[in-house]
Amino acid sequence: MNLLPELEKLLGAAQVLTGEAAAPFLVDWRGRYKGQALAVVRPGSTEEVAAVVRLCAKHQVPIVPSGGNTSMCGGATPDETGRALVLSLARLNRVRSVDTDNDTMTVEAGCILQAVQTAAREAGRLFPLSLAAEGSCTIGGNLSTNAGGTQVLRYGNTRELALGLEVVTAEGEIWHGLRGLRKDNTGYDLRDLFIGSEGTLGIITAATLKLYPLPVAQCTAMLALNSLEDATAVLSRARAGFGASLTGFEVMMGTVLEAVVKLFPQQRLPFEGASAKSPWYALLELSDSESAEHAQGRFEAVLGAAIEDGLVTDAAIAESIAQSRAMWHLRESIPLAEAGLGKSVKHDVSIPISLISTFVKTTNAALQVKFPGIQHIVFGHLGDGNLHYNVARALDQTEEQLLAQQYDVYQLVHDSVHAHGGSISAEHGVGQLKRDELTRYKSALELTLMKQIKQALDPQGIMNPGKVLQA
Ligand code: FAD
Ligand code: MLT
Ligand code: ZN
Repeated sequence: MNLLPELEKLLGAAQVLTGEAAAPFLVDWRGRYKGQALAVVRPGSTEEVAAVVRLCAKHQVPIVPSGGNTSMCGGATPDETGRALVLSLARLNRVRSVDTDNDTMTVEAGCILQAVQTAAREAGRLFPLSLAAEGSCTIGGNLSTNAGGTQVLRYGNTRELALGLEVVTAEGEIWHGLRGLRKDNTGYDLRDLFIGSEGTLGIITAATLKLYPLPVAQCTAMLALNSLEDATAVLSRARAGFGASLTGFEVMMGTVLEAVVKLFPQQRLPFEGASAKSPWYALLELSDSESAEHAQGRFEAVLGAAIEDGLVTDAAIAESIAQSRAMWHLRESIPLAEAGLGKSVKHDVSIPISLISTFVKTTNAALQVKFPGIQHIVFGHLGDGNLHYNVARALDQTEEQLLAQQYDVYQLVHDSVHAHGGSISAEHGVGQLKRDELTRYKSALELTLMKQIKQALDPQGIMNPGKVLQA
């Protein structure tokens, strides 16, 4: 018996997609990769996921787990051979339980991030993971990529928000690790091994997540700044002044926000005149557990001093929730605006915060020498030292010409990241995009240990082959 009829018998024919129905799963969000697959299957329970994996293990068919398909590095896109099965977690979308005494919730992997946030809020709690793809990415994808986003400086990335996991292994067994414990030192940390493994070690089917109190008041401001150095100085003061209440600190080049308002004319910068043409902007958020007055007092003290000392050239403080949302909307529209400008070479790097402005200056200069006229698209999560240091084509270049230079651009930028003590993937993961780059910066020992772990957990090499490591 071959695999497809067995899958149809197991799941029902309606949950085994081929042809047009499978097409959206075969191309990544950025349109950089197009693959083929035997079929896309949509199991409806952990037991069904396990049964599908057992069938694939029996037939030695590779499996590509798929969540919301918003990966920035082709992680959920199968290769072109058509041998793999795409396994969508979309139907595992139940909130299994919320425990407000333990401040935890247990959700299935296919839950959309926004639905997880909403369920937490309905229980009077905060689930703080937040990113612009939250309306379509899934918690399983977030865990598998150890996603970051805009609140990491206060709450950590997805790894720090997960207490327990349920995982289907590469042999189709179910590991019941849904523990809601903040302390558990019982040997190797399997949970942290699966988190961030991008579907190469097993399939996450559910997770127990940490919840936090909802803030009583929030203050948001957009700041106009002359330089990234000034942004770093303001971040330092905000950290000292707000402590754990500092929940967001994003930076954006002025030209990047210009591109946003050009593409989305209904959006506007909260500035007029010269401040609307600032070289840099920062978006700052404070979350307070006391009161609006307390929040405002702290906010104005730190911002006032930064303006007086010339670090901030102008500040727009949101006076309503609508104004705060509009500021965040500007920031969150950047990936779409960037995609609207055409294909760019994207880098998702982290650098010690103290070296970020030096990194940008020296790398910009080196790029201009080697690729004259290339345009810089720099924005990101300065609060966690994570920049999206992207490069768009020079005005006299075609998109294809830029993409033909992609690996040379990577090499220059990633060498600079490495020289500044940074990482070539801060939050997006490796997928297929950075797989070969990884081998240039990880030590031989690290790569060997990673391969040994892969071999131990996935001896047949059927879990998302060709992602993170060579197949
Ligand atoms: P997918 O894209 O479907 O999959 C991602 C990887 O995880 C693949 O390797 C896949 O095989 C694997 N996978 C998916 N589900 C499972 C599972 N249940 N078990 C095992 N493996 C699985 N990322 C950030 O970190 N920070 C940001 O601020 C951010 N902003 C973004 C903004 C936009 C507009 C977009 C399009 C993307 C953004 N991303 C960001 C990238 C992306 O949203 C995240 O990586 C997200 O975590 C992926 O979730 P997903 O459900 O879409 O996963
Ligand atoms: C972001 O911070 O907006 C995301 O990581 C997406 C991107 O880099 O385009
Ligand atoms: Zn980001």
